[in-house]
Amino acid sequence: MGGATSDGLRAAEEALKVTDRGRRGTPLHPYPATSFSPHAARRTRSGWAVIFCCVVALGMSGVATRTSASPPERVDELIRATLELDPNVRRGAKLYRAHCAACHGKDASGDASRLVPALAGQRRAYLIKQLADFAELQRQSVDMHRTLVQREVDDPQEWSDITAYLNGLQPTVAPQTGSGEWVSLGEASYVQWCASCHGEDARGDDEGFIPSLRNQHYPYLLHQIRQLASGHRWNAEPELMLFLDSLDSDEMRGLADYLSRMRGPTRDRARMRDDGFVGD
Ligand code: HEC
Ligand code: HEC
Repeated sequence: MGGATSDGLRAAEEALKVTDRGRRGTPLHPYPATSFSPHAARRTRSGWAVIFCCVVALGMSGVATRTSASPPERVDELIRATLELDPNVRRGAKLYRAHCAACHGKDASGDASRLVPALAGQRRAYLIKQLADFAELQRQSVDMHRTLVQREVDDPQEWSDITAYLNGLQPTVAPQTGSGEWVSLGEASYVQWCASCHGEDARGDDEGFIPSLRNQHYPYLLHQIRQLASGHRWNAEPELMLFLDSLDSDEMRGLADYLSRMRGPTRDRARMRDDGFVGD
């Protein structure tokens, strides 16, 4: 592990420090605050998972009908506008090289040392939502805010092109993994609490804008579990934030490590459609 790599890890570990401190006694916390037992916590979390699915489904059904202009509503409008356009993958490749590759890498494999995510092969609907969230300042990142005010990459047609290009790329070959210490805890936690939404093989789902969590770097995954739990992504479901905030730091490490070892395309990726999009 090079010096540069441990910078990303150090930053992710630093952010994790609030986890075990912050989770005690918060009234909104999904753990029962008074009579804590792991079994009670488990039941509570499974319950939350069911509720989140319903909330996500309800939220999605409202997307098409909103007209006013609060930032989350503008995000919905941008997503809808982008999804309606025909993408030009070749133009997407050009735009990517000029405006994104410096940070996300030529092959979109990210940079674990700077907590820059791999984007290659990520779901298109999710990528589009994240661009809209960044553009409307619903997700933190100075780098991304600065990028998306540039005229060449600030509108739905350009997002349509770039995300189609990224979705068609081969996933990152060797994402950085964690120490291995909490992998089995991570696996058990994943199956129990995350697979219902992200899929057993972590492939995500275009419906619900749920990301694939495969082929992603450990420090980035760890950092984002913490960021989501801390509410740094304002356009994510509040229930999801509370749920992730109920994990302790070893569970977060285990989950990120287990996921960082999920490699390669999913089985269905072999059946790429002619237009280059990869669905289920
Ligand atoms: C100056 C560096 C930089 C540039 C240039 C940049 N990004 Fe990013 N990008 C980042 C960082 C850092 C993050 C992680 C933000 C966070 O911590 O939440 C990110 C996150 C993202 C995400 C979210 C991915 C996920 O898994 O949630 C997407 C999508 C994205 N960038 C797309 C792009 C595109 C498309 C471009 C070019 C138009 C671009 N980025 C240019 C640094 C950059
Ligand atoms: C109710 C469905 C649901 C459940 C359950 C769920 N997630 Fe998610 N997850 C999502 C959605 C939706 C997003 C995208 C949020 C956004 O748009 O910012 C997400 C985003 C993420 C991200 C950010 C990925 C990236 O590239 O930035 C990570 C990491 C993650 N989830 C991990 C987990 C883990 C670990 C669990 C289990 C402990 C879990 N999720 C449970 C729906 C879910």
